[in-house]
Amino acid sequence: MPKHKFIWRALLAAALALLPLASAAAAEPAPANAIKVGLLAPFSGPFADFGDQFMKGVEIYMQEHGDTVAGHKIVVLKRDANGVDPAQTKRQAQALLTRDHVQFLAGFGLTPDALATGPLGTEAKVPMVIMNAATGFITAKSPYFVRFSFTLAQLVTPLGQWAVQNGLKNVYIAVSDYAPGYEAEKAFDKAFTAAGGHIVGSVHIPLLNPEFAPYVQRIKDAKPQAVFLFLPTGQQPTAFVRQYIQFGLRKAGIKLLGATEIIDDQALGMLGDDALGVISTQVYSYAHPSALNRKYVSDWKKRFGAHPQPDFMSVAAYDGMAAIYAVVKRLHGIIDGDKAMAAFKGLKFESPRGPIEVDPATREMIENIYIRRVERVNGELVNKEIVTFPAVKAP
Ligand code: PHB
Repeated sequence: MPKHKFIWRALLAAALALLPLASAAAAEPAPANAIKVGLLAPFSGPFADFGDQFMKGVEIYMQEHGDTVAGHKIVVLKRDANGVDPAQTKRQAQALLTRDHVQFLAGFGLTPDALATGPLGTEAKVPMVIMNAATGFITAKSPYFVRFSFTLAQLVTPLGQWAVQNGLKNVYIAVSDYAPGYEAEKAFDKAFTAAGGHIVGSVHIPLLNPEFAPYVQRIKDAKPQAVFLFLPTGQQPTAFVRQYIQFGLRKAGIKLLGATEIIDDQALGMLGDDALGVISTQVYSYAHPSALNRKYVSDWKKRFGAHPQPDFMSVAAYDGMAAIYAVVKRLHGIIDGDKAMAAFKGLKFESPRGPIEVDPATREMIENIYIRRVERVNGELVNKEIVTFPAVKAP
């Protein structure tokens, strides 16, 4: 056999011999003492943005702080779960716990994701780090939940007070027809009416509803001074705001008050100056003027480009990861569920959103709530923080 053929065959044989190893490594990349974090979130479907924002926040944290804590490699296992399919979420959570033996579950985009997983995490005594799902009662369902986002009542109560202080007396409520929507409605109604406001009507919009015209028309006919809106961030609020403009509500002077990110980066791009003046309540703004946020945004742009911009979900994921690192460090890498939960309680650090603390009594965030208004700052449309309610606890 000519020498070069022999060498090629030998190389091929060596490569083939390595193949099983390579595929085994792909299936189980974690070293034996790795700490595994199962990241459950929608990565496909109408809420795929949630998973994208979570993953990017996690990656930025790991890029800035390395992938090893107390000598243990941190491995993130990403699984597609979707709050609109709790049975699938449950199957994914079960596999992460029983097959992958994760030490932490994290993510949880929509409230039903968290509710479907709660009993499994409780039984396995595995901490569940919530990076978005925001219905208040979730954390009471399991002592293994800790939340790095907010609750709807925490977010909306300051907005109800602010609305009355800013001359709004008659408001129409439009919310998504599932648990966070009901909580947003109740909290806004309570704070707003206690301060002297009057609710002129309310409507519940189905979670997967693509058509907002009938709702927008009904709101216009009621002639309120403002509409309070909660729809899960992403395609829905953008579609609603478009119809609010098309149906002339903005022209009629009906103000828009939103819970969470109703005007995101994509909506700003699509609506342009039509978005000016929209008010929303959030725990984070891309334009938050702090050194840490400037670094966060700059690291994000270098790694992922200018769009999509980071939003509150990415920041909750970044902070959730910071907390997991802190807990792993405190426990020297030996993760016991109960000790981990004790270590989460009272954690306090600076986030790109501002200072945060895990309330030891409730496992909820103590954090600033910002009322923001869409404004043009240095030529760029942003949700500018105009009022800060400092260190708000979840009610
Ligand atoms: C939720 O389902 O809890 C949820 C979803 C999207 C949000 C906020 C809360 O923007």
